[in-house]
Amino acid sequence: MTTTRKDDHVRLAVAQHTEPAPHAVAGAGHNPAQAANAFDDVRFVHHALAGIDREHIDLRTHIAGHTWPTPLYINAMTGGSARTGEINRDLAIAARETGLAMATGSMSPYLKDPDTAATFTPVRTLNPDGFVMANLNPNATPEQALRAVGLIGADALQIHLNTVQETVMPEGDRSFGHWPANIEAITRTVGVPVIVKEVGFGLSGRTVERLADLGVAAADVAGNGGTDFARIENGRREHGDYAYLHGWGLSTPAALLDARSHGLPLLASGGIRHPLDAARALALGARAVGVSGVFLTTLVTRGTDALIEQITTWLDQLAALMTLLGAPTPTALSSCDLQLVGNLHTFATFADRSPTPPQEATR
Ligand code: FNR
Repeated sequence: MTTTRKDDHVRLAVAQHTEPAPHAVAGAGHNPAQAANAFDDVRFVHHALAGIDREHIDLRTHIAGHTWPTPLYINAMTGGSARTGEINRDLAIAARETGLAMATGSMSPYLKDPDTAATFTPVRTLNPDGFVMANLNPNATPEQALRAVGLIGADALQIHLNTVQETVMPEGDRSFGHWPANIEAITRTVGVPVIVKEVGFGLSGRTVERLADLGVAAADVAGNGGTDFARIENGRREHGDYAYLHGWGLSTPAALLDARSHGLPLLASGGIRHPLDAARALALGARAVGVSGVFLTTLVTRGTDALIEQITTWLDQLAALMTLLGAPTPTALSSCDLQLVGNLHTFATFADRSPTPPQEATR
């Protein structure tokens, strides 16, 4: 059951990312790689004399006591079946060749069946010096977390919060109340930094505040606008009767606005389509930016070399954008002037979330 589900996830995620663009065919799917999303509501104010020298750009970033060579990472996706093991192998090669940090998909298949270990271990064996993250759901016990981290010599553990996905998943969990206590128990015992993430529905400021109290080292807001797990799981239901939950949640930019200043370093993922979205997420306060669906689709449809080329191009263009914006480091992007428009502007001004309070309010 689990391994079939993992194969389904890859197939349905790639299908989302290869549907015709919404404007191309009336009524066609939403193809998150090409559709508009809330990152379009984040605009850099152009300053024509802000540019600096490309040679002064330093892409390194600092996460949970570690330095990553680049602010991009391959976010959690897969493992547990023969096919997804091959995908982890190819992602590990791409991570090694480009210096990106990388997470496995949920390692619960391994906890249930140790014979699936070989579908996860290449993430470390093929990339011995890379920053590697294990991934688990919050039902895991501290002992299980130690086993998952130990199997791949993980530098950090991601725990994913996925209440919406579980709700729509036909065979999904229906009890979530024990999650905070489990997370706290794991952070106390696992011995590596714990990063809590969503899976595409966003972490709010209120959630991040609770996570900080539970001993979590960083939070990946993983908002909507990209791969939509409500659509994926609804596509696995016989009657597809949860269609009204498609698009649920906070967008990644909205989650960043809501969650910053709530006590944890933030990572951003969900709906990153190109290097400008990565720059926008860094400008909104993220320390690093994760990509799943777009990289997976490149790998599955065009192969490992194409993925390495895509990541190399993205890093090059991110450095080019930082050069023109006058930001020598990823952190420096957060000093750039931003204009928020559309729904994101409405969200930012709602409940005093505006990043730059109006003059009257500060007097
Ligand atoms: C995921 N994602 C995910 N997240 C997680 O924490 N554990 C997991 O096992 C998985 N599995 C998974 C499978 C597949 C095929 C995809 C595409 C994604 C969610 C992922 O890490 C990310 O949060 C979302 O996909 C949003 O990012 P993108 O796809 O919009 O870049």
